Amino acid sequence: MYHIKKNTVQETLIIPLFGRKVCSEHFPDLFEDPEAERICSMLDYDFTEKGKKMESAVGLFGALEVAQRQYDLAWEVKDYLKEHPGAAVVNLGCGLDDTFRKCDNGVCKGYNIDMPDVIEVRNEILPAGEREINLGYDLNDERWMDEIDPSNGAVFFASGVFYYFKTDAVRELFQKMAKRFPSATIVFDTCNKRGAKMMTKTWLKEAGISDVNAFFSIEDKAEIEAWCSDFASVTARSYMRGYRDIYNEVRILHKMMIRFCDSLVKMQIIKVAFR
Ligand SMILES: C[S@@+](CC[C@H](N)C(=O)[O-])C[C@H]1O[C@@H](n2cnc3c(N)ncnc32)[C@H](O)[C@@H]1O
Repeated sequence: MYHIKKNTVQETLIIPLFGRKVCSEHFPDLFEDPEAERICSMLDYDFTEKGKKMESAVGLFGALEVAQRQYDLAWEVKDYLKEHPGAAVVNLGCGLDDTFRKCDNGVCKGYNIDMPDVIEVRNEILPAGEREINLGYDLNDERWMDEIDPSNGAVFFASGVFYYFKTDAVRELFQKMAKRFPSATIVFDTCNKRGAKMMTKTWLKEAGISDVNAFFSIEDKAEIEAWCSDFASVTARSYMRGYRDIYNEVRILHKMMIRFCDSLVKMQIIKVAFR
C-alpha cells in the first residue's frame, strides 16, 4: 500500500484518479478504465469521504469532468502523433494518470513529470514501461526540460495542474518552453475566475489556496495569445462538448451543469502551438 500525504498539492491527484474510477463504474460505455480502479486499490488513502461526495449527483458531475478531460487531452496527443509518430509525449503534473499508455503508438516516448514524492509512489504503482520515463521535478525548476528529447516533435499536456500555479509562473513556463521546444504543442484545461473561486471549496482547498486572484485562470484564449511572439497559434474548445458530445448521454441535471460550465465558468481545453 502506498501513502499519499494529506493537505498537500500532491493529494489533489486523488480526485481525478478516483473520478476516473467512479466514471468507469457509472458510465462504462463512455469511460471504461479498469486501470484507475487497480491504482486506487493500491493506495493507502481513505476514500470514504470522497466516495460519498462523488456518489452524489453534483459529485458525479465532477467525476464526469475529470474523465472527459482525460479523453480530450488524449485525443489531442493522438492527433499530434499522427503527424509526429516518434514524438515526446510529456505529461506535466502527471499524478497517477496513465494517458501516455492510452496513447502509445509503439514508437513515441513518454515522460511523466511530477513532484519527487509523487514520482516515488508512481514508480511503485505505475513503473515506467518501455519508451517511458517517470521524472521527479518541480515544474518551476526548468532543469526538467533538459530531460526531454524533442528531436521527433513534442506534445506536452497538463491535466488539472495549472490551477495551482500563479499566472506569472504559467506565463514564464510557456515562454521558456516556446524557446526550448520550437514547433511543439502544449494542451491543458482551464476555467475562468468564477470557476477557480468555486474550486476553492474543493480542489484548491487541499492545496491550501483560498485567494485565487493571483492563480491561473482565463476568460478568453486571447489573454494567452498576448503572452509571447513565439506562439504560432492558440486555440480553445469546450471541455465537455468540444471533443465528443456527451450531452445526450447524461441526465438533465448534468446537462444543465454542462451548459453552466461552458457559458459561465468557461471550462476549456486550450492548445498552444509554438513557432
Ligand atoms: C489535480 S492533480 C492532477 C493529476 C493528473 N494530471 C491527473 O489528471 O490525474 C495535480 C497534479 O499536479 C502536480 N503538481 C502541482 N504543482 C506542481 C509542480 N509545481 N511541479 C510538479 N507537479 C506539480 C501535483 O503534484 C498533482 O499530482
